[in-house]
Formats: sequence, C-alpha cells, structure tokens
Amino acid sequence: MGDKNIKDTHKMLSDEAAKMGSVRMRFQGEEMITEFFEANNTEDMCRQATSGLVLVDTHAHLTDKAFEGEEEIIVGRAAECGVAFIITSGYNLSSSQTAVACAEKFDNVYASVGFYPENCMEFDCEALKEIAQNEKVVAIGEIGLQYTEGMPPKEEQIEVFEKQIKLAHELNLPIVIHCREAYGDCLEVLKRNQQFLKAGGTLHCYCGSSEMAKEFIRLGLHISVGGVSTFKNADKIKKAVIDCPLERILLETDCPYLAPHPFRGKRNEPSLIPTIAENLATLKGISVEEVVSVTTQNARRLFKI
Ligand code: NI
Repeated sequence: MGDKNIKDTHKMLSDEAAKMGSVRMRFQGEEMITEFFEANNTEDMCRQATSGLVLVDTHAHLTDKAFEGEEEIIVGRAAECGVAFIITSGYNLSSSQTAVACAEKFDNVYASVGFYPENCMEFDCEALKEIAQNEKVVAIGEIGLQYTEGMPPKEEQIEVFEKQIKLAHELNLPIVIHCREAYGDCLEVLKRNQQFLKAGGTLHCYCGSSEMAKEFIRLGLHISVGGVSTFKNADKIKKAVIDCPLERILLETDCPYLAPHPFRGKRNEPSLIPTIAENLATLKGISVEEVVSVTTQNARRLFKI
C-alpha cells in the first residue's frame, strides 16, 4: 500500500485503539496491521499483539470508585493485553482491606497494604499487621511522605513511615514508597532505617531527579515508572529513567490516575502497561521485548510472585 494509505491506516488503528483503551497494535508496526484486519474481535487482536509478552502492573488501585462494577472487565482486558499480574494497592485500613478482598477474588491480582501520608493519623499497626499476613499480600505500601499543603505534620508522617518500614521488615515484605516533594527527608529516613530494607522496595511513580534515583538504588531499592514518564514535559523523569539500570525499574499504572500519553487525562487501567513499556524502550533505545522481560523479572523477584 502507498504511503498515504499506511498513514490513514495508522490513524484509523489508533482511533480504534483509543476507543478500546488498547494500543496493542503499535508494538509491531505493519505486520500488526495485517493481523488487525484478520482478527475478528478485540480479544483476538490483543492476544496476537502481545503473544509471548508477560508484563506486570506493580501499582494499581483496582478498588477505586472509577472501576466500580467493572473490576472483572478491567482485570480480563489486562490479561488479554499481556499484563499477567496486577498489584492493587491500599492507602489506609479500609482500602487495604478491599485490596486484599480483590486479590482473593482474582488469581492474577496481588495486594499491597499500608497507610500513606495523607492517612497517617489513622495508622493502626495491629490491624495492618493482621491483614498483611494474608497470602496474597506481597508488599507494605503505599507508605511514605508528602509535603504538599494540607497534609499531616511532617513528624507524624515520618513516625508512621518508619513504623511501617519496620513492620515490612518483620514480615519480610518489600515496601512501596509514595513520595511527593519530600525526597530529601524520604532518603534520610530510608538511610537511617537501612537495616530494615532487606526485603527491598520501590519508589512508586518516581518523580525525582536522576541523582536522587541513584541514592535510592544504592539502598537496594527500585524506581517504578508509569504514565508520567510518557508526558511531553517530563524531562527530569525521563533523564532519571534513562540513567537508571533497567534491572532496577518496575512498570506501573497507578490507575485510575496518570494515564500515559496519548491517553493523558483519561481513566488509566492496567491494559495500558504496554504503552508505558513501549515508551521506556524508546527512551532507553532498546527493544520492547527486553523491557518486558527484565521489568517482569524485577517484579517477580521483588514481590516474590
Ligand atoms: Ni497509588
């Protein structure tokens, strides 16, 4: 087909993909276009496009209101698109409980439980310890620090963060860290608790500098890369991602928030992980297959899935 036809077909495919919330065909260029026309439905297309690829969404909020009544569809669509595992995260007691309930419902969903900075005043260590012992719980998180307006006092945030780092150590679970405008203190807290970081952890939705990422990596931690790394104005994050060894990178959506470009502003979901993987491959100048293979191994090793 001529150049114009190819262009038109690409446009038609991406419009179609946008409608379905799926961008599978972008992986394999023209070869995929043929497959697209041969496929009878969305499921066939997803399966063909991602055959052999096994991805992990290491941070999602499947129990968010945005997915109410649609969890089965969302989890099913992710699996069709090559996302083999999803870790759904809590941020206080009730969301941690619903995250565990969701993980119990789906074989390929795991849970992360904890109190994040905004909810640190409600911290209940005993209750958290109890739910963290469920066999589908693979991490303590999200936990951490956020120094934006309206958040609880720093001292309280730090105290609850440290208590949860110690709980994770006691349970031999990795930590999932939420950090906003608090990278300096976050690093300091982690450094002085280094002996409690043996099970590892990750800086979820990493937004810090390349230099800071190196410090976290020196502590044995990972950085998690999501939709923000695809945004046009995200130069700082892109540099951090380029400089970070692939062996220390995890993929995540943080859905329903932070959908990757070109879905920015729309509802995010785990089936968009391939878009994030593709962007990471472009940033690093390596193949999507390598990104998928290494980040999935990283996730399996860290979360013991
Ligand atoms: Ni989150």
